[in-house]
This record gives sequence, structure tokens and C-alpha cells, in this order.
Amino acid sequence: MNDSGEPPSQVLSSDHREIDRTFEEFQATPPAATGRRTELFDRFATDLRRHIAVEEQLLFPVFVEGEPSRRLLVDLMLDEHRRIEEVLQEIHRRLDTGPASTGDLESELLNVLWAHNAREEESVYPWFDAHLSSQQARTVKRGLRESVPTNNEPRLEERDA
Ligand SMILES: [Fe+2]
Ligand SMILES: [Fe+2]
Repeated sequence: MNDSGEPPSQVLSSDHREIDRTFEEFQATPPAATGRRTELFDRFATDLRRHIAVEEQLLFPVFVEGEPSRRLLVDLMLDEHRRIEEVLQEIHRRLDTGPASTGDLESELLNVLWAHNAREEESVYPWFDAHLSSQQARTVKRGLRESVPTNNEPRLEERDA
């Protein structure tokens, strides 16, 4: 998928791990270190939102195209993304109030995130290894690193058509 030929499933799963590591660092930082905690959480949330945007804008449309039976699985993942976003916002709000504990919300987030990531890694990502062109794979990798196109820009399948 990238210059060294790493398959998309591996690149996407590695991105999960990297995002997890930032969250672990956040969790290991005591509530009294408010500034550091906010900084780590902001980085975690930015990276996770970027990852989700790549999935929703570049990957899921290709996955579901021509195979409507995958719609249910994609809808489930979109619901989970929405739930993840809700909890992210709740944590942002709590951190804004000062050195508060966010342990309950962290558990809630991890419950959704772990099941969600496992589902993607088992049932979704492997499909892309066989079905993305190297150009599409590069676009995905770039999206994970930088940003994804807005909804007004051509989607992956249109750009490669
Ligand atoms: Fe996802
Ligand atoms: Fe993911």
C-alpha cells in the first residue's frame, strides 16, 4: 500500500495501534496535569477523527459499492463512529471543566472502540488488500497522514476511474 508495499489492512491496523498508544499516554497522565492531558487527548481525538474520515469518505463507499449486502455492516460501523464521536465530545467537555477524572467516559470509549476496531480488522480491512489499486492505497495512506478530501472533492473510486 505504501512505498514499501505494506498492504492496506496493515497500514489501517497500525494506525489503530498508534492512536491507541496516544490514548494510553493520556490515561497514564494524572488529572492534575490538566494541560498535558488536554494536549494528549486533543492529539488522540484529531488522529482518530482523521482515521474515521478516511474510512467514511474513502473506504466504506468502495466497500459497499456493488455489494449491497455489506450495507448492514457499514451502517453498524457508522453508528459506532457516531457513538465514538459523542463520547469524544463528552470527554472534551469534561476536560474543559478542569482537573476532573474522565475514567467512566474512558471505559465507555474503549468498550466501543475495541469492538469496533476488531470488527474492522477482521471483517473489513482484509478486503481492501485485494481490491484497492495502488493509487487508491496511496490516497488512503496519505489521508491517514494528512487529511482527507472534503465531501465536495471526488471520491476515491471517481478519482481512479
Ligand atoms: Fe472505524
Ligand atoms: Fe478503523
